[in-house]
Amino acid sequence: MSIAEADRTRVWDATSIREDFPILARTVRDGRRLVYLDSAATSQKPRTVLDAERYYYETANAAVHRGAHQLAEEATEAYEGARARIASFVGARADDVVFTRNATEGLNLIAYAFSNATAKSIHGAVLPDGGEQFVLAPGDEIVVTEMEHHANLVPWQEVCAKTGALLRWIPITDEGRLDLDAMKDIIGPRTKVVSFTHQSNLLGTINDVAAVSQAAREVAALVVLDACQSIPHQAVDVSTLDVDAVAWSGHKMLGPTGIGCLWMRPEIADAMSPFITGGSMIETVTMAESTFAAPPTRFEAGVPMVAQAVGLAAACDYLDALGMHEVAAHEHRLTQRTLDGLAAIPGVRVIGPTVNESRGSAVSFVVDGIHPHDLGQVLDDRGVAVRVGHHCAWPTCRRMNVPATTRVSPYLYNDVSDIDAFLSALQDSRKFFGVA
Ligand code: ALA
Repeated sequence: MSIAEADRTRVWDATSIREDFPILARTVRDGRRLVYLDSAATSQKPRTVLDAERYYYETANAAVHRGAHQLAEEATEAYEGARARIASFVGARADDVVFTRNATEGLNLIAYAFSNATAKSIHGAVLPDGGEQFVLAPGDEIVVTEMEHHANLVPWQEVCAKTGALLRWIPITDEGRLDLDAMKDIIGPRTKVVSFTHQSNLLGTINDVAAVSQAAREVAALVVLDACQSIPHQAVDVSTLDVDAVAWSGHKMLGPTGIGCLWMRPEIADAMSPFITGGSMIETVTMAESTFAAPPTRFEAGVPMVAQAVGLAAACDYLDALGMHEVAAHEHRLTQRTLDGLAAIPGVRVIGPTVNESRGSAVSFVVDGIHPHDLGQVLDDRGVAVRVGHHCAWPTCRRMNVPATTRVSPYLYNDVSDIDAFLSALQDSRKFFGVA
């Protein structure tokens, strides 16, 4: 279903949705209604997610995959049941989803597969079958884009520093889109991995995954997708994306903090050395050496975050009940209202696409004569919660010639009254700072 079709099939009841989120009933700053527009940073949680976590702790809490008692058995069932539920939300097989702490950890897990395999091969250690594809040498290249969150940039910088590989990036246009013409000269025969964001957390741009992965496939590079900002906001089926790995966070999609997922094609995961080692992830251990379990267990050392997985499964239930196409359609309407409202205010410049196509609901902007941090404070005084700064995408800010931006990022519990409250508070701020 397209966004336009979903738009016609449902009247969005943001009021009743809002009632599902206890925190949205609170007031801020001397009794003002909370206008929460910072969901790209973290989303709020519905009661069903909070209840699922509490119910797990009240009835089944135990360390999973260990123990001979009933609670351990039930906790293991809850954990593996959550994995199956979350996997089905993105069209994946349960065994292909690794639980991580967040998307950052998932991306580091992949990056470490490269530096670990390279170090092991230098020292003559045996790699898993297929592990040579992760071995890098000076002259090999890793490609990212100029719109990456630091989580999908810094780990690759570190891999390059450890292996001698060269980091390259696909530039972005003045509008904040990937420059796909320039990409043709960036991805080449030395490219070993292309890692890019599905949806920019700063610009809101939704990238053409097929175009980038096709270029990567032509040179047999591994393709990694940061779906942190897309999976919460649109229907994503990993089985239809031509990529090898997808990382995302639970807390941005109504789930708890401390849980994320990394989906990998099984042949890729099988060929990878572990990232964090210790209990649970082993097959055999002697004093001298160890062998490792099959994925996903190989990548889940230690007692994992069971309650968080259970909470994230409940978040998937909540999102599926609404329908991800309807969620996207609702956000599309809010984005249009935001873009129209900002365009009507003098001295405001949107940083990122101003056309509401292939863009998400996170909208960054700057205002002539007002520093984003000052603006964020005045908006906050009026109950409007936004994010300001470089949004962990500092090079993207530099490319767009701004030191920082103010960003609004609505979600399914926001409605037009929230966008209008923000726009009105922005007008007030311009008067407050004497630039109106
Ligand atoms: N990555 C989150 C953001 O964009 C924290 O705000």
